Order: sequence, then C-alpha cells, then structure tokens
Amino acid sequence: MTRILVTSALPYINGVKHLGNLIGSMLPADVYSRFQRARGHEVVFICATDEHGTPAELAALEAGQSVEDYCAALHQIQAEAGEAFGLSFDYFGRSSSQTNHETTQHLAEALEREGLIEERLDKQVYSIDDGRFLPDRYVEGTCPHCGYEKARGDQCDSCGRLLDPTELKDPYSTISGSKNIEVRETRHLYLLQSKMQERIAQWVANRPRWPSLTKSIALKWLEEGLRDRSITRDLKWGIPVTQNGQPRPGFENKVFYVWFDAPIEYISATKEWADNNNQDWQQYWLTDKGAEDTLYVQFMGKDNVAFHTVSFPCTLIGSGEPWKTVDMLKSLNWLTWYGGKFSTSEGRGIFMDQALTLLPADYWRWYLMSNAPESDDTSFTLETFAGAVNKDLADVLGNFVNRITRFGNGKFGPEIPAGGEIGAAEEDLFAELDRRIASYTSNMEAMEFRKSFADLRAIWAAGNEYLQIAAPWTAFKTDPDKAAVSVRVALNLIRLIAVLSAPVIPFTAEKMLAIFDLGLDDVAWPKEKAAQELTRLAPGTKFNLPDVLFQKIDEEMMEQWAERFGAPRH
Ligand code: MF3
Ligand code: ZN
Repeated sequence: MTRILVTSALPYINGVKHLGNLIGSMLPADVYSRFQRARGHEVVFICATDEHGTPAELAALEAGQSVEDYCAALHQIQAEAGEAFGLSFDYFGRSSSQTNHETTQHLAEALEREGLIEERLDKQVYSIDDGRFLPDRYVEGTCPHCGYEKARGDQCDSCGRLLDPTELKDPYSTISGSKNIEVRETRHLYLLQSKMQERIAQWVANRPRWPSLTKSIALKWLEEGLRDRSITRDLKWGIPVTQNGQPRPGFENKVFYVWFDAPIEYISATKEWADNNNQDWQQYWLTDKGAEDTLYVQFMGKDNVAFHTVSFPCTLIGSGEPWKTVDMLKSLNWLTWYGGKFSTSEGRGIFMDQALTLLPADYWRWYLMSNAPESDDTSFTLETFAGAVNKDLADVLGNFVNRITRFGNGKFGPEIPAGGEIGAAEEDLFAELDRRIASYTSNMEAMEFRKSFADLRAIWAAGNEYLQIAAPWTAFKTDPDKAAVSVRVALNLIRLIAVLSAPVIPFTAEKMLAIFDLGLDDVAWPKEKAAQELTRLAPGTKFNLPDVLFQKIDEEMMEQWAERFGAPRH
C-alpha cells in the first residue's frame, strides 16, 4: 500500500465552475483518487477555493457584499456543486484560511532567511477614482506601436505586442472607465527566482516520469531563464506581509500575490484535514517526516503548469526546508465550447450546477473523461455529448445490465441460478477481460484517461458480445443449464463492471451493486483472473431488478439545450 497525496488545481472563488474547469483538474483528480483508493492505497485528495486577488474583490463589489461574505458564500456553493458531481475530496479548504495565512507567512520568511527575497521599488498604474492600483489587465489605452485604442496593459490584441501598462497612451481604468490615473511608485517583495535556475533545472531533470505536455512547458520556462517575480500586491484582501511574525514595515497596506499563497494552500488544507482526522500532515509534506515515501500527484490545466513546475517549487525548495515536491504532474489541454472559449465572466458554456439540471453527474463524468483533452484541445458539442450518452452508456452498458437481469429473472427467478459447465464462449470472455482489465489498470496508473476509458468501454461491450454469442434465450429452449451458466456469468460481470467503472461513474456503480444488495465498500478491485472474479456471486444469491440505468438524449432535448445555452445547431 502506498500513501498518495492528490491535489487538484484550486478553482477561483468567483462563481460556479464550468465543464471546462471541471475536466481541467477536479474531475480527473477525483477519478484518479477513486481508482487508487479502490486499489487499496491510502489516498488523501485535497482541493480548496482560490480566494484572493483583484477578481474576487471586484466580484464581491458587484454582488454588493463584503469580500469575506462573498467568498464564504461562494465557497459553500462550490463545495455543494463538487459534492453533487461526486468529487470525493477528503478536504475542500479555503486559501483565505488562518492556516494558510500562517503557512504562507512562514514560507516567505524562510525564503527571506535564505537570501531569496528583496524589496524593490516598482512603478505601477494607480487609479485615483477607484482608489486602487490597477493590475495590468485592468488598464487599457492606446497602443504605442500600432495606435489601437483598446490595447490591454499587458498586451495589444491588435498588433500582438507585449506591453507594459505604463507605456499606454491615454490610459483608463477598465473598472470605472476613469482616466484619472497616474503612475505611482510602490514597494514590493521580489522572489529571486533567477538565483534558483540551477536548482530548479536539477529538480526538473529528476522527474523523468512527467508526461510530455508537463515537461515541455517546464523546459520552455527554464530555457527562457527564471526571472525574479514580485510576490506582493497593493490590495486589502489577502494575506498580510510579515517579518519575524510582525507586520512588515512599509507593507501594512499590502498582501501576498494570489499566485504566491494559492499553491501553499495545498499544504494548509492538508494540515486542516489532518487536524480534523487525527492524522499527521507531515507524512505528506515533510520529507524527513515520512513524505519521502508519499507519492504526490497534481492535476491542472496547461495554463497552470509553469506555476507548479517553476514558481511553487522555487517557494518550497528555496525555503531551505525539507518540503515534499510533486512527483507526477498531470496536465490537460482545454475543453473548448464549440472551438471557442468557455467563459465564466461572459457566462458562455455549461456550468456545473446547470449541467445537473439536465442530466445526472455520471453522464457528464463519462463524457468528459472518455473525451478528456489530453493530447489536444477538445471541443465540447451537444452532439458528441449525446453520442457518448446514447451509444456508450445507454446502448452498451445500460442495455447489457437491463437485458441480463430481465432475462435471468424471467426464466430463473430472482436468484443467481446454479447448474451447467463453463464452455468456449465463457473462456473467450475471460481471456478478453483479463487482457482489457490489465490494460485498463495500467492506463489508469499512467493517468492516460482516454485510453483507460476506451478499455472500459471495450469491457462493457464484451458483456454484450458474450450474450450475443452465448444466446441464452435460444439455449434456454433446449438446454436450460447452458442458459443458467450465461445468466450466472453475466450477473457476476455486472458486479465486476460496477467495480471497474466506479472511479468514473460512481453513482451508477452504486446502482449496479445495489442489484445484489452490495455497496462500494463491500467490493474490491479485481486481483484474480476473470474466471475467478466471475464466481464471487454464488448460485442462490438474490438479485433485484434495476430501473433503467440511462436515459437517452433525443432531438427535442438537444434543441432545447442548444437554445438555452446558445449552442450552434446545423
Ligand atoms: N485558481 C487557479 C486557476 O483556476 C489555479 C490555482 S492552482 C494553485 O487557474 F496552485 F494555485 F493552487
Ligand atoms: Zn498594438
């Protein structure tokens, strides 16, 4: 048994997440955690809301709430949406927690002791009417290169050049539109990442098992050379900057940058989980306290990779303390909304809470995971979604379960029948299952989700093919014992399929096990060959007739949803 720490990138606090966010980190992390728990490993799955930064302050302002109230409310909403989707977090924390204040301040002070922090004087755009410094993307103005009038402070969308907001002509605040703005000097803490170049390069070189998307992003940043970065901001909402445990002189009105404290929340949330559960957080996070033997796996979208392969490791390694760093880092490409962007601010796409008003969580979980954007960006469309539901779930899995339970009950009654001998059709099925289960398991270990779920789909299909070949409805007329074998094997296969499918469709797996009055806690991942696994439910075991497992998506539903979500239809 291995101790495994799994973290999902922390969702920003501002609003319920869309399906793109879900498949970008939280859902694959959940599926992997469920898989490793089922395999008998000791898994702690950590997530939290990422609560600091200007967007949170502005969202609260717009909602007419204090930022504290706003974050508390949205945290609750996100926690509920996650639970409804079956996300099996062991702990869902908040980056604004007192624990995270302490861990963040501790790490910043450790970095300073190591000579990796420097105060520097910056020039930054200040909006007098808004009473705040403006982050780059909240300043717009005329591009000094091409004259485009709505260039953003960080980049001109017309000529594509990267900009410094102080270069813009006629700048204005995008928060209020005010032109009453000026460049002010402000002091910030810089983390001297340039001094960490060698150590980070070494560390990355020691992670040979990273997938190529992760590795290529990390190497690109290393090749460009690590740059010092400011880790404080002129904001009220955030973690106060300290020195020797006291407010740092000159930084009374500043806080740590959201991207400095957010990944540290992985540690803080683990501490809170451990405190609540009588566990030792150090086994997960300190290499001299057992974390050397912990496998640490992170999940995130590709835009987060640089922060996790460079910035956060700089914090941990630079502290001079024996912090655990990530072993496996699974990164995903984008799920797009018909080739464009899902957008929280513009409400484009389908959001987690809305999705569940259309269909249950497992429908979405299966679609998203079996089409995970692994090697490329993947386009969400209602058509591909309907395809996955109607073909895979309804026609293949649902049909198999429905057919055999009804046939078995009709001919033999509500108990698994005895009698008959294993024959060629069964041997073929066992061989196919052994091959597919081995492949499925190793693909899941490797977090190759598309391949994993192609295997799982093939396992479901093997059930139907077996029934096709064994044809118990024909056999029953001349040789009832032969039909009894098929019913017994196929009912056992429902149980085995439930176990194998539980990481991705946990609610359905529960329903399938309930056919035999079992729950997920009563079953274990298959260790034996299929020939043995398919004898676990003995003759005489009672079974119940399940309701139809999956509802199909029809044209009318598609039309309605397309209209509701503004999806293009041809
Ligand atoms: N909130 C960020 C995003 O959604 C992810 C933060 S991950 C962490 O892109 F490392 F900061 F925790
Ligand atoms: Zn331009």
